[in-house]
Amino acid sequence: MRALQVTRPGGPDALTVTDLPRPKASPGHVVVRNEAVGLNFIDVYFRDGTYPTAYPFVPGQEAAGVVTAVGHGVTDFAPGDRVAYATQLGAYAEYTAVPEAKLVPVPESVTLPDAAAALLQGLAALYLSGTTHPVRAGETVVVLAAAGGLGQLLVRLAAHLGARVVAVASTKEKREAALAAGAHHALPYKDFSAGVRELTGGEGAHAVYDSVGAATFEESIRALRRRGTLAVCGLSSGPITPVDVELLRTAGSLYLTRPTLADHVPDAASLRAAAAELFAHVADGVIRPDIGERLPLAEAARAHTLLESRATTGKVLLTP
Ligand SMILES: NC(=O)c1ccc[n+]([C@@H]2O[C@H](COP(=O)([O-])OP(=O)(O)OC[C@H]3O[C@@H](n4cnc5c(N)ncnc54)[C@H](OP(=O)(O)O)[C@@H]3O)[C@@H](O)[C@H]2O)c1
Repeated sequence: MRALQVTRPGGPDALTVTDLPRPKASPGHVVVRNEAVGLNFIDVYFRDGTYPTAYPFVPGQEAAGVVTAVGHGVTDFAPGDRVAYATQLGAYAEYTAVPEAKLVPVPESVTLPDAAAALLQGLAALYLSGTTHPVRAGETVVVLAAAGGLGQLLVRLAAHLGARVVAVASTKEKREAALAAGAHHALPYKDFSAGVRELTGGEGAHAVYDSVGAATFEESIRALRRRGTLAVCGLSSGPITPVDVELLRTAGSLYLTRPTLADHVPDAASLRAAAAELFAHVADGVIRPDIGERLPLAEAARAHTLLESRATTGKVLLTP
């Protein structure tokens, strides 16, 4: 079968098209024929070595497809089932063997491309707005990289929960995409904390969801009100240098957290419950994945280049 492989950490050219044996269904595993593979920024962290792993490996964490075989002991899935997964390395391939516990069923009301486009970033948007900082009606929350895959879904959920959403994005087109996703205001990055203060009568925001990291950390702190929460949910511009915790006192008794999806869906039961909630939101239109680009799997290197150069809006899907 055709797959992409990384044999050493590097740039997009570290992704090479290769031919690998089709995986077999070992005990507890399900073989999925991937119909749509989701591109996520975490794929860049694995490819460039920010998140270390063993080499060679097949990258990609997210896909939706159809079950072709099940291993001994698998009870919840059968050949022909429509399924998706979001936290399992190996998605950049025609077929992937996935542990049963990491698989979720896709209801008939959701297409497989929408499932692949929504699952990882949608699960993240759900816990960020429901657990990390539970968004309440009337609050002001700020979403950075608001036109991106995660950003648009977070904007939609926060607006659905009744917050006033301030989107931050780099270009006019991206700010328009964030407004179309339900944001009430859209700002460029430069001095966005001043814009947030102006919109809130000088108070600042209840929460900032910052997936950009190094480049925006200080501005995000400045955008918060007393006892506000900074959720650093990504590192697109690079990791944040060590922080003096006294900053949290002087900036207004702030809360700072660096959450990750795996800790919010640590087992099959929590993953399936969250996915069911997410897919219900997709079916009823609260969450509408914005699929900005579909590329053949063999063009994964180009997809990475586009994502890293900030040229994408919404979700990028790869087709095996
Ligand atoms: N913690 C979690 O559970 C979780 C889950 C999913 C994603 N994430 C994180 O959320 C972020 C977004 O992920 P995504 O897959 O949805 O990607 P994305 O937002 O679709 O794409 C990345 C966007 O980040 C912005 N950006 C700002 N500075 C950047 C830089 N120096 N290089 C590249 N991009 C930059 C760009 O938007 P502008 O042009 O508007 O700045 C770019 O389009 C990533 O940091 C990812 O790791 C975290």
